[in-house]
Amino acid sequence: MKKIKVLVIFGTRPEAVKMAPIVKALKSDEQNFESKICVTAQHRDMLDQVLRIFDIEPDYDLNIFQSGQTLTGITCRALTGLETVIEEFKPDLILVQGDTTTVFSGALAAFYHQVKIGHVEAGLRSGNLLSPFPEEANRKLTGVLTDFHFAPTETSRANLLKEGYENSKIYITGNTSIDALKWVIDADFRFKEEILNNIDFNNKKVVLLTSHRRENIGEPMENIFSAVKEIVDENLDVEVIYPMHLNPKVREIATRILGNMERVHLIEPLDYLPFTNLMAKCYAVVTDSGGVQEEAPSLGKPVLVVRKETERPEGIEAGTAKLAGVDKQNIYNELNNLINNKEEYKKMANAVNPYGDGKAAEYIVDAIRKNML
Ligand code: UD1
Ligand code: UDP
Repeated sequence: MKKIKVLVIFGTRPEAVKMAPIVKALKSDEQNFESKICVTAQHRDMLDQVLRIFDIEPDYDLNIFQSGQTLTGITCRALTGLETVIEEFKPDLILVQGDTTTVFSGALAAFYHQVKIGHVEAGLRSGNLLSPFPEEANRKLTGVLTDFHFAPTETSRANLLKEGYENSKIYITGNTSIDALKWVIDADFRFKEEILNNIDFNNKKVVLLTSHRRENIGEPMENIFSAVKEIVDENLDVEVIYPMHLNPKVREIATRILGNMERVHLIEPLDYLPFTNLMAKCYAVVTDSGGVQEEAPSLGKPVLVVRKETERPEGIEAGTAKLAGVDKQNIYNELNNLINNKEEYKKMANAVNPYGDGKAAEYIVDAIRKNML
């Protein structure tokens, strides 16, 4: 019997985390699938961290990363590299995940070679083409080229239907980030970083901070960090941990505003295992990340989303996430509320999971089998 040839393409940290369960599901059915992995390596260190944790060895590594890379540069290098890979492997289906420039380039390369496309995490929309930038455009552009839309929730399906996509091409699967998360949390987890083992998670209010979005770089990010700084100055029981993204522009703002503070720990990006276990131990999360917005509700952690809008309204509707915007006073007020208002904290600290039952990869692979065998 002829096997379905699937090329799984990804390039950045979050895509690797969310593709890992699919990679495993495809490999566990070698009778029906011949799957290969191609990393563009739009990220290098931050991608390799995830590949190590999930024990994934790419068949193709385009190694396109350049420090200070531009969107055009990433797109051109990815497209050129992918052409060679597609011509060599001749896949029946290409899978891309999310909304990065690797995703759009992967979908475009597939389309140019008339290979079918499966878009994992399809249908997320903020409603503002400029925020997140360029991700909202990447999602929409990828959607136009996609054959199988793997939408995580009813909300994402509704977004696709509104744009005129056929219901028969949309599959509600949940988000594979939840599949990955269930493998990793361990109550007795010990960190490699002694600084983290020494934190008193029981008596301190430990806030986990992440921020990296392109549209936040500049004044919005200054506002986020300044609000956090003020909260730390005023509350002696608050400690902040910020595993800084490797983008030098982000690091400059973070070290300028939050550097040299006794109760703020600016550390290197963590591997996925320590990061998620840190999230499980912390008091609350402040983030502009997409993936972290999905993970924190599952772990019962209140999340302040420091963005103007979100494509993940499910956490907000479930009551564990709040859109805090990028205005300093507003972020200060919301964080102050979480730190000093017990009732408000309790209301938000509920473990809910609007993003699926942890079997998204299984549903995705099943849909491919049913449609392509
Ligand atoms: C990219 C994605 C974004 C995603 C984020 C996840 C695009 C346009 N953006 O943003 O959607 O949320 O990844 O983290 O696709 N860098 C390193 N080493 C690394 C990775 C990054 O040094 O391993 C530094 C480099 O200086 C690089 C900069 O970070 O130029 C930005 O990386 P880039 O991939 O262009 O964008 P991100 O902001 O990481
Ligand atoms: N993450 C990680 N180490 C860190 C910060 C985040 O492993 O120091 C993981 C996190 O658990 C989530 C993903 O990386 O699965 C989110 O990536 P990021 O915030 O960079 O991208 P986004 O989700 O915003 O696209």
